[in-house]
Amino acid sequence: MEDTINYIKTNTDNFVPEIGIILGSGLGEFADDYCDFALPYSDIPNFIKSNVKGHKGRLVFAQIAGKKVVMMQGRNHFYEGHSMAEITYPVKVMKKLGVKILILTNAAGAVNESFRPADLMIITDHINFMGTNPLIGPNDETLGERFPDMSEIYKKDLIKLAQKCAEKLCIDIQKGVYFATSGPSYETPAEINMARILGADAVGMSTVPEAIVANYCGLKILGISCISNAASGVSDLKLSHSEVIETTDKAKSRFKSLILEILKEL
Ligand code: HPA
Repeated sequence: MEDTINYIKTNTDNFVPEIGIILGSGLGEFADDYCDFALPYSDIPNFIKSNVKGHKGRLVFAQIAGKKVVMMQGRNHFYEGHSMAEITYPVKVMKKLGVKILILTNAAGAVNESFRPADLMIITDHINFMGTNPLIGPNDETLGERFPDMSEIYKKDLIKLAQKCAEKLCIDIQKGVYFATSGPSYETPAEINMARILGADAVGMSTVPEAIVANYCGLKILGISCISNAASGVSDLKLSHSEVIETTDKAKSRFKSLILEILKEL
C-alpha cells in the first residue's frame, strides 16, 4: 500500500481527492472530459490491468465543479479471476488518498419489469449473491471493524441529493435494489425470477464488493446503475456484452450530466 500511495502522490503533484468515482462498463468516457492526471493501472505498483471490452484501465485525477475527484476508468471484476482482495484494493487506496465519498456506477440488467434499457437507477440497497465476501480474512483494524454494520450502505442523504439533481435535469430516474452475481455467464430466467422474488430490481456482476469494502472503511456511498438490458427472461432477446455497451452508450450523455450535477451539489 505504501508503494502504491507513494507512486500516486509523486505522479499527481500530491493531489488529495475528496470524492472517488468508479466508472462501470461503457461509462468510462466521463473521465475523458476531465483529466488533470491519468495513471494507467499497469504503471501503479500493486494495481492490476483491466482488460474487459469497454474499459480503459486508468486512474484519473481531476478538479470537477470545484471538487477534487479520483476516477477509476474501468474496474477489475471477480469473474476475471482476480481475488476479492485484488478487486477491492483500489477502494482502500482511495480511502488512504483522502476520499470521503465514493460514487459507484455500473451497467446492470433490469429485473424490475417496469424498467427500460438506458434508464438510470439509484441503488438503494444491494443483495450479495456472489457467494463470497471481500472482508473474509484477517482484519486490518486500522481500516475498519471486524463486523461492520450494513444497515445504510447507500446513504439516504446522497440518494435524495441524486434524485434532486435528476429532477433538476428532467431525467426520469429509477430507484432500486442491486443484485450481484459472480458472472461471467448471464443469469437464467429462473435465476432472474428468484432475484425478483428476493426483492431485486437490477442485476450485475460488480459494485457489491467495492460497496462492502467502502462501507467498512467509513466511506459514504452513492450507487448508480445504467440499465443496459432487460435481464434474462424479461424479454425474448438474447443477452450480449455488445448490447450492454451499445445501450450504455445511449444513456451516456444523461449519465454524464447527472454525475456532473451531483458533483456540483456535493
Ligand atoms: N446480468 C448480469 N450482469 C449484467 C447484466 C445482466 O443482465 N447487464 C449488464 N451487466
